[in-house]
Amino acid sequence: MSVIQIHLHKKSINDLNGQTLVVFSKANADKTKPAKITHAETSKALDEALADKVVTGAAGECISFREARFLGFRNVITVGLGSDAKLTAEVVRQAAGALCKEISALKTQEVTVDLDGLTAKKDLAAYTQALVEGLHLAGYTFDQLKSGEKKEKVVNIHLASQAAKDKAVQAAFNQGIILSACANFAKRLGDTPGNLMTPSILADEAIKAAKGTSLKVSAWDKKRIEKERMGGLLGVAQGSSQEPRFIVMEYNGAAKSKAPVCFVGKGLTFDCGGISIKPGAKMEEMKYDMCGGAAVIGTMLAISQLKLKINAIAFVPATENLVNGSATKPGDVHTARNGKTFEINNTDAEGRLILSDALVYASEQKPAVIVDAATLTGAMVVALGNVHTGFFTRNAGLKSKIEKAGAVSGELVWNMPLTDAHVKDMKGTFADLSNISSAGGAGSATAAAFLEQFVDADIPWAHFDVAGTAWACGNRLSYCSPKGATGVMVRTFVELAKQYA
Ligand code: BES
Ligand code: MG
Ligand code: ZN
Repeated sequence: MSVIQIHLHKKSINDLNGQTLVVFSKANADKTKPAKITHAETSKALDEALADKVVTGAAGECISFREARFLGFRNVITVGLGSDAKLTAEVVRQAAGALCKEISALKTQEVTVDLDGLTAKKDLAAYTQALVEGLHLAGYTFDQLKSGEKKEKVVNIHLASQAAKDKAVQAAFNQGIILSACANFAKRLGDTPGNLMTPSILADEAIKAAKGTSLKVSAWDKKRIEKERMGGLLGVAQGSSQEPRFIVMEYNGAAKSKAPVCFVGKGLTFDCGGISIKPGAKMEEMKYDMCGGAAVIGTMLAISQLKLKINAIAFVPATENLVNGSATKPGDVHTARNGKTFEINNTDAEGRLILSDALVYASEQKPAVIVDAATLTGAMVVALGNVHTGFFTRNAGLKSKIEKAGAVSGELVWNMPLTDAHVKDMKGTFADLSNISSAGGAGSATAAAFLEQFVDADIPWAHFDVAGTAWACGNRLSYCSPKGATGVMVRTFVELAKQYA
């Protein structure tokens, strides 16, 4: 187990020494010419490696020179940023993820990065944030359930820059630390197996994490949930011996009169499908069915630490979807908090049922906006794979705010269609609604159409289906483990929330 600690120093690399020096390399626009290393002395020392194209400057390329004994450092690592023309914050984030792996391969525990060589000054704040995020996200590990080496290894990463005197760079550094720590917190909730992450444990984790912040967190038990007439949540929970929870997190960073930003997240701590049981293959992955909930919990923690000048409330309905003698049966009809009835034609379409009550409750808060995140449909994975998170909204203003937020965070989002045709497909035979579509295909859009029935028509609302992106991003992101949780949407949701300040 290793823990990464990142420090910002108002010093040039030339005034520091230590174990490992990290400098940046950039590809030459003219491919026949050697790459550049942005630190002059290192560039001189490694001129042969540049001439021989050992160092090419390709984005994400990390080349280690072990025991180089250079400028008071034992080792040197060059980190490729690609060509200047294509440099973005995401390129930096991905390069930082690659660097983190190289650091651990080198088994070095004291690293000093030539931050002055990262970029021209105007982008330094944004790129410093991306660098911090990439390092910190990539440094996340989840191995506490393995017996064996329990000693925690600390890796110190020092970022050295004369420009660190700049307030904007310092603020960006702090923001990077907070966002990645909160995304890592969300990942930890997701990676924790179902037996150790029940609805009540999820609630306790949210309460514990909020200690020392200005967040007010409460978790309603089954009795209270019954009193609040949340028939969707109760109907799913009745098949499990674990009690459901309804988690409420509140943040007040603006005048009381300011309408809050509301977040809703699916907190299904394990989904076996219920009576309409899932096949065995990959069912273990359904411990990740609370990743939408984890994302909004992580978002609220970040919002409070960043002290955003907004009001925000998050709601996470939490339950298991299991099978026992009292489980909901196909054909059963339940009633949501707003009085709308639904027939359960497939007990595996449970996410929409627990979200229905939460969306009704969120609507009652008269919010400026409601945003939900849920691992809602397998169809989303078919449509967009693990690359983009599909989002559904009929509000043009909100759509552009979301796209702006995604452009800043680097998390890829894609607007999906949601129309009256999808709503029609969700009409019930014996109740107002059916929980599955009467038509084939467009399973993510019809699920979104179902959710829409529980949001007040005049409230801007967007639904994010993170089924493809909440875990198992494969080798797409250097700063995420290939199989584990990704913490997706925490960074985008915070960027979105900022637009309501
Ligand atoms: N949690 C699943 C969705 C899911 C499946 C996410 C696979 C990620 C990977 C959800 O509760 C579910 O089972 N949805 C059903 C809906 C269907 C029965 C209409 C699905 O997508 O198969
Ligand atoms: Mg299901
Ligand atoms: Zn589910």
